[in-house]
Amino acid sequence: MKIPAGFLVVCLMFSCFVATSYGVLFSSLKDTLIVTATHTQDQVLKAGEEQITVTWRFNQTYPAGTDSAYKTVKVKLCYAPISQKDRKWRKTVDLLKKDKTCPHKIVARPYTASNNSFTWTIERDIPSAVYFVRAFALNAQEEQVAYGQTTDAHKSSNLFTVQAITGRHVGLDVASICFSAFSVVSLAGFFYMEKRKGKVAQQK
Ligand SMILES: *[C@@H]1O[C@H](CO)[C@@H](O)[C@H](O)[C@H]1NC(C)=O
Ligand SMILES: *[C@@H]1O[C@H](CO)[C@@H](O)[C@H](O)[C@H]1NC(C)=O
Repeated sequence: MKIPAGFLVVCLMFSCFVATSYGVLFSSLKDTLIVTATHTQDQVLKAGEEQITVTWRFNQTYPAGTDSAYKTVKVKLCYAPISQKDRKWRKTVDLLKKDKTCPHKIVARPYTASNNSFTWTIERDIPSAVYFVRAFALNAQEEQVAYGQTTDAHKSSNLFTVQAITGRHVGLDVASICFSAFSVVSLAGFFYMEKRKGKVAQQK
């Protein structure tokens, strides 16, 4: 069976139409935000304990007004390629709606061109991996219109590592569970004793 060329063209146009009208491509965004974070290259930071301070500002090399549509900034923690390898669920997809590079939100703020910073304690549920920080500028429709990141375009420089909660914390968690169980048992015991006392008193 021969597929008419016209049909193929229509299909191609349709898929382009779908791609452009139903989502923003990362490759279409300009790198107009300058984003820095206080970690050093290859630093290892402990989840639940240690902090990074992220700063972001508009790169003034771009013409004034480039940022006129920017309404909010969303700062995210993103997986470096080495921590995406063999993990489909962290895959980078150009269509941002499907992109899994940056699943961890750090903060969202109204957009201002300068003097932005946020100190973030790495949350306890952040998995051990190699990361960088990326900020997206969003317009009034909540669509990404620009970005900036703490690493280079290849996502290879200035990365840092998060070390997830360790055995020590698990030990603490186990201790607190035991303690709660103990409180419940002793409370039950207390009520039982009180009831018995009550009965004994009635019998007298
Ligand atoms: C600002 O943008 C220009 C043009 O893209 C770039 O060459 C420059 O490195 C950027 N500045 C910083 C500090 O990232
Ligand atoms: C930047 O923010 C700090 C604290 O919010 C403030 O003290 C300082 O004056 C601000 N600087 C500029 C240039 O806006």
